[in-house]
Amino acid sequence: MLKLRLLIAETKGFSPAALAELQEHFEVTLIDIQRDALEKALQEYDVFWFRLGLRIEAKHLSSTTRCRIIVCQATGLDHIDAAACQENGIKTLSLRGETDFLRSVRATAELTIGLALALLRKIPQAVAHVQTGGWDRDQFQGQELLGKTVGIAGMGRLGKITAQYFQTFGCNVLAYDPIPFDAVGVEACPSLENLVSRAEIVSIHINYTAENHHVFNDTLLSTFKKRSVLLNTARGALVDSMALIKYLESGHLAGAALDVIENEHQHQNSALIAYTRLHDNLLITPHIGGNTRESFEKTELFLAKKLIAHVTAP
Ligand code: GLV
Repeated sequence: MLKLRLLIAETKGFSPAALAELQEHFEVTLIDIQRDALEKALQEYDVFWFRLGLRIEAKHLSSTTRCRIIVCQATGLDHIDAAACQENGIKTLSLRGETDFLRSVRATAELTIGLALALLRKIPQAVAHVQTGGWDRDQFQGQELLGKTVGIAGMGRLGKITAQYFQTFGCNVLAYDPIPFDAVGVEACPSLENLVSRAEIVSIHINYTAENHHVFNDTLLSTFKKRSVLLNTARGALVDSMALIKYLESGHLAGAALDVIENEHQHQNSALIAYTRLHDNLLITPHIGGNTRESFEKTELFLAKKLIAHVTAP
């Protein structure tokens, strides 16, 4: 039987075990696809597999698109136009809703702690200082996590794991989620406003939807506790970038560490990235939350099996 053509469009570090499974069922090609080659790739392959490096928009799809299945190893799918896929008869397979499996995928929660420590201990600045010949510890007095009040916005899988990690560091953890949650030792706040007005560190773990676009807007940021810090490893568009810059510049917020920004595919134009060139109270990493060897291995193997089950189902 002729095998379906599968393109793996982001190849770096792709799991050998997942690849071996896929090769048994598909004619697999691995090529790193750039944005301008996306439409053509979707014309040529039955299955298109990618991570977060591309955006699939309506303009890439048409009635002549060959692709029938998009596989994306993410839970946040705001970089895929779901309506356009549906209109063109394309199914998306992803990690969304795979609650049991995802319990062991913790890379983003670990990065959140890493960003908190990097910000509070000024680690990037201290490393740069040594690289440029310095050795002056007095420039880098930081703050500890022990005893801090942390506010977790969004108590889904990652919010809960991150809450536990902060508890391990001796933090008092508050959380807000519109859906009631169960988490030992975590105080549930009645609103997001209440959470941000009390926490010294606010960490965002909310799924992005059109309804919560810029939920961290000027008004909400103005109610943050003075000199608190914001961590965002969820999605950039949850936070109004210009408002964030305003509160960082005024010193109302002591700092922020972001692994995600608005319009990542146009990062060259980001006002936040421009701000980091002149200020050291904002740290930004390029959406590396889920990017660990372990996480890719697990998620790629899981999705390979999910894809095979899908195409071999009677
Ligand atoms: C990563 O950002 C994901 O949505 O899984």
